[in-house]
Amino acid sequence: MLMAEESHITFRNITKTFPGVLALRNINLEIKHGQIHALLGENGAGKSTLMNILYGLYHQDSGEIFLDGEKYALNTPKNATAHGIGMIHQHFMLIPNFTILENIMLGQTSPKPPKLEKDYFRKEILKVSAKFGIEVDLDLLVEEVSVGMQQKVEILKALYKGAKLLILDEPTSVLTPQESQELFKMLHDLNNKGTTIIFISHKLNEVMQISDTISVLRDGEVVATLPKSQTSQEELSRLMVGRNVNNKYDKASEPIGEEIFRIDNISLHDPHNKGRFLLKDISIQISKGEIVGIAGVDQNGQEELAEIICALRAATFGNLYMCRHDVTNSTTRQLIELGLSFIPSDRRNQGLVMDFSIAENTILETHYQKPFTRGFSLQPQVISDYAEMIVKEYDVRTPSINVPVKNLSGGNQQKVIIGRELSRNTRFLLVMQPTMGLDVGAIEFVHQRLLKARQGGMAILMISTDLEEVRKLSDRILVMYEGKIIGQADSTTSIEKIGMMMAGFFQ
Ligand SMILES: Nc1ncnc2c1ncn2[C@@H]1O[C@H](COP(=O)(O)OP(=O)(O)OP(=O)(O)O)[C@@H](O)[C@H]1O
Ligand SMILES: [Mg+2]
Repeated sequence: MLMAEESHITFRNITKTFPGVLALRNINLEIKHGQIHALLGENGAGKSTLMNILYGLYHQDSGEIFLDGEKYALNTPKNATAHGIGMIHQHFMLIPNFTILENIMLGQTSPKPPKLEKDYFRKEILKVSAKFGIEVDLDLLVEEVSVGMQQKVEILKALYKGAKLLILDEPTSVLTPQESQELFKMLHDLNNKGTTIIFISHKLNEVMQISDTISVLRDGEVVATLPKSQTSQEELSRLMVGRNVNNKYDKASEPIGEEIFRIDNISLHDPHNKGRFLLKDISIQISKGEIVGIAGVDQNGQEELAEIICALRAATFGNLYMCRHDVTNSTTRQLIELGLSFIPSDRRNQGLVMDFSIAENTILETHYQKPFTRGFSLQPQVISDYAEMIVKEYDVRTPSINVPVKNLSGGNQQKVIIGRELSRNTRFLLVMQPTMGLDVGAIEFVHQRLLKARQGGMAILMISTDLEEVRKLSDRILVMYEGKIIGQADSTTSIEKIGMMMAGFFQ
């Protein structure tokens, strides 16, 4: 048994470049046995890259990694797994229409003939789940379970494969606050049983809650490694961004203008169960120059409502009005032409085409319009000037606008979407989880941008599970629960009270 305080992983002089990017520059970092070690840093600082190297997905250009003091060179994911390293990615890698059991079995070999394999794996997996106290129903399909449960499955899978070190890359960005707390409890339990944990997050309160040691990366370098007990959120954000981050905004109160968008008595039947409603009698009016926030725990109908507003799905009953014109049966393209912008929560599937360049992504919805197209021909110079403008304004960290967006760091992908959607002639903005995956500096920037858009007369409907964000930005807050708007609040309403409403307790 190795003692705590001994090195589990040591990175020595790790350097990694991508075309045009020095992603990691001489990284020296020690991860000790039995610790929860957090990695912090701005979007694009190199956190995921460093972890991908450890897991064997990328290779360093130079430098060495030591595992338990021994040089560790054959770094492929398979080899990492064999050496007890498990990684839970920013985006899950499960197969949706397989059961949880099948997903965990995948790629494993059993000593039993194929017919008996499932029973064998079931027993073995249940042993691991009992040992670590992680409960999952192995027979459910992955697509049937919540994101929080999928994450549990990923963790169980890694433990089943013998992980002694777990890497979690922004595990809480997809979780509700309650799910995050459950995850932390689970990580503490695992840690108490000896698992070393590397945890990447942008949420400083989480980092302060869960970690023993915190390292801050900036521009591909480690700028500090500190024990939690000797630092504070303020110091961490200063180390990360290089300046103090403003947490309070002055929100000039503007007279509310005319109605821009109205959701009128929208209801939606559950396609699998006609007697049930996914949305029931939703009515919201959004006026010029106001931000209406919808708070709620994920999966209470927010996604469906957003899809109906953007014409990606039809409502069963009810109407939509844009500037008092009935747009209930309009197409997404028509809505965009009337001044709709949409920032979705699922940026990889709905917001971006991952194989397209940044430039192509900035004109996804408007490429056929002037000035990007004249007559029948695209205008490359106009398009690249426009993309350069967005990259500069929104501080997208990239060597060039021709890079495919899949090569950008998670936070920089989000900045491309926000830049694109806020740079159009927008009357009505529907924005979901605007700052998911962004670092503290970028969050402040995006919040200021939304407030500026509001000041300029944009009508904004913001759907977010981040209660702090909703309270900071919204003029009015509506609380959604089980497909209904069950209460109203504003920025003076206490967090506790809004939280109670989100959990379905009516006052
Ligand atoms: N496959 C790749 N090809 C080209 N460049 C890449 C690739 N992966 C990462 N990069 C670049 O390396 C740098 C570090 O990216 P990385 O994803 O490690 O950042 P991060 O700290 O995880 O950021 P975030 O908080 O936004 O997730 C970025 O400039 C990114 O664009
Ligand atoms: Mg990352």
